[in-house]
Amino acid sequence: MSSVVAGIADIVVCKNSDSLALDAAHRFAALSSAASRGGKPFRVALAGGNTPAKLYKLLASPRFRGAIDWRSTHVFFGDERCVPIDSEFCNYKMAMETLIAPLNLDGATIHRIHADQPDPEMAAEQYAQEIAQHFGATTLPRFDLVLLGMGSDGHTASLFPNTTALTEADRWVVRNEPGLQPFVPRVTLTFPVINNAANILFLVAGKDKAETAARVLTGPSAPHQLPSQSVQPGDGSLTWLFDRDAAHGLIL
Ligand code: 6PG
Repeated sequence: MSSVVAGIADIVVCKNSDSLALDAAHRFAALSSAASRGGKPFRVALAGGNTPAKLYKLLASPRFRGAIDWRSTHVFFGDERCVPIDSEFCNYKMAMETLIAPLNLDGATIHRIHADQPDPEMAAEQYAQEIAQHFGATTLPRFDLVLLGMGSDGHTASLFPNTTALTEADRWVVRNEPGLQPFVPRVTLTFPVINNAANILFLVAGKDKAETAARVLTGPSAPHQLPSQSVQPGDGSLTWLFDRDAAHGLIL
């Protein structure tokens, strides 16, 4: 595993997706312990998609479950698809199956995006209100950790190339149109919220991400075509975790 600093980010290349999940689990546990030592709740926004499932299962395993104070951990979501809650495409369902149910987490600490309702705009507004209520503030919420994935098109969360959500400067949560399967409306955190996080951790695995990862991290600035380039925390850490396949195109 090697680690170099590329501009504003740390880049860590793990042997495979299992070691990537393990590295992420250690980081998650360390950050949650730091919050706990400070007597503060740990607020994390989960990534959707498939890659994070290994991490969530690991966090719920005997190896990690006891290392985290789940009673003071508040689980949010970076984005959600507008599908039924029992749909295979529902990010909340994936988190429920891999993390929430196995740990039997208290529902009061789980803040899902109700994107299964008919109106995505209403879902976005309601989620922003839930975030504001939890953080007790009208100023930009600061998550302790935002987990992100990156699509092969360079999107992150549901911030897809050439979509209106990319330039949202005020709202915390918006509806957006998809750029990849499933082609359903999405509800997503916006860049102001993501970039206000204390820690951002990308989880990127697989050969299909290698070319895009190289363009995002080492190519020219093109944030509308490569939205992941817009993840630049103002006052926080940014770490990219890759497996070797996804890092193949990076010249480190
Ligand atoms: C979503 C995810 C999305 C995901 C990427 C990468 O709702 O689709 O939030 O941003 O992280 O598409 O997904 P994989 O890690 O499964 O490739």
